[in-house]
Amino acid sequence: MPAENNTPAPLAKGPLDIVIFGGAGDLAFRKLIPALFNAHLHNRLDTDTRIIGVGRQDWDRTAYLAFLDEKAKPFVAKSLADAPQGDAQWTGFLERLDFASVDVTNPQAYQSLVTLSKTASLRVFYLATAPNLFTQICANLTQVGLVDAHARVVLEKPLGHDLASAKAINDEVAKYFSERQIYRIDHYLGKETVQNLMVLRFGNAILEPLWRGPSIRSVQITVAETVGVGSRAGFYDQTGAMRDMVQNHLLQLLCIVAMEPPISLDPDDVRDEKLKVLRSLRPMTALDIKRDTVRGQYQSGTIDGKPEPGYLSEDNVPKNSRTETFVSLKANINNARWANVPFYLRTGKRMQARRSEIIIEFDDLPFSIFSGAANSQPNRLVISLQPEESIQLQMMAKEPGSGMNLRPVNLNLDLQSAFSERRAEAYERLLIDVTKGRLTHFMRRDELEAAWVWVEPILNEWAASGEAPKNYHAGTWGPAASSALMARANLTWHEES
Ligand code: BG6
Repeated sequence: MPAENNTPAPLAKGPLDIVIFGGAGDLAFRKLIPALFNAHLHNRLDTDTRIIGVGRQDWDRTAYLAFLDEKAKPFVAKSLADAPQGDAQWTGFLERLDFASVDVTNPQAYQSLVTLSKTASLRVFYLATAPNLFTQICANLTQVGLVDAHARVVLEKPLGHDLASAKAINDEVAKYFSERQIYRIDHYLGKETVQNLMVLRFGNAILEPLWRGPSIRSVQITVAETVGVGSRAGFYDQTGAMRDMVQNHLLQLLCIVAMEPPISLDPDDVRDEKLKVLRSLRPMTALDIKRDTVRGQYQSGTIDGKPEPGYLSEDNVPKNSRTETFVSLKANINNARWANVPFYLRTGKRMQARRSEIIIEFDDLPFSIFSGAANSQPNRLVISLQPEESIQLQMMAKEPGSGMNLRPVNLNLDLQSAFSERRAEAYERLLIDVTKGRLTHFMRRDELEAAWVWVEPILNEWAASGEAPKNYHAGTWGPAASSALMARANLTWHEES
């Protein structure tokens, strides 16, 4: 990367404006405003930091605040209940907010934003809109003089639909912002346990010698959700699980598991190592894709005793949709550390449980004096990201009593009870990083593009095959073919073992 990327963006002293395009959108009221409220509640925002929502709505400030009262406040109910004088805190937070009614495609319309933001010395522009608006927004902001050397832009995913569109967006945004001013957000990189994974790997001497093949036999990364597409069918049906989850969140998790130790925590040192992993992913041939990938779509089923409709019966989903709501696949990394260690990635909507976890399965003993003893299992390191955060190492222990029977027992790193500190949500942590100019947990352009280089042939092959996704019932762990994918290597998904 050019040298300028290694230099943090200059820190401006003085008032900061956080400008949210898509200020009345789903992401803003579910995640961004609640995250900023929590930052406010815990004194992580300077007193002169303001938040300006931008939207097409013909609203004034009062109307926007009323909207946030109705739509965003429920998402901070717990913080409000826990905080002394919670309601007063919410009112105090709203003091920071304003609204600019802007048709983002019309350069003249930005004048209201210019007026609102004229006193700021640092501006963060959060683009929580459809990506096809990113270019126009950046161009118009520049034209009206709101983009200077201090300004930062946050780009929400999905960044493109394929490699060419991702490159086109990156090229356009680069006309107005230098790479060090661009924060490509993947909120998984803001999760506490994901950041802790770096400490687990690089802060503990005992793991490093074992963290490779053949000591490690396989890696599983699962991000399972119980929710369906909800109100996002318009977006989701054009996107699918591969673009929505695998291309970004799951590949980022894979990078952190697989990367070499970076020489420091500087943004480019970390991102250089992640990039090497993405470039080492073995490209899949048509045969690999047929054999080693499974795409699924949920049918009706039951989750926690509640009947759920199938994907094709969800609002706004075309009745003949072939969009995948589930993916599992086997990836291989062509480098010395990971040659011959399969990485199994899996994600899906309407699965049996909400669970995000990484399972590191160690190799069998080369020779066991306990052969024949019941229940001998390989050691597994189970890193749970959600709903609970925990790290457990499954060890074998002797069952009490006569005989030498073995039983797996967990060595448990209980992070919840070890730390009493508040754990901020991913968006809060990442938004604060943006205001402080910390780029480590954001994706660099070349990382994003390398992820598309690997994913795109799979999407193309699926489209070319003309095959429909395999069905699975809501409330299960995906199509039977997903279990078969593991079984062929004599492995099982974590919940099946
Ligand atoms: C988003 C996807 O990036 O991540 C959603 O667009 C998905 O489809 C969400 O539901 C999952 O995030 P989390 O933090 O709830 O696991």
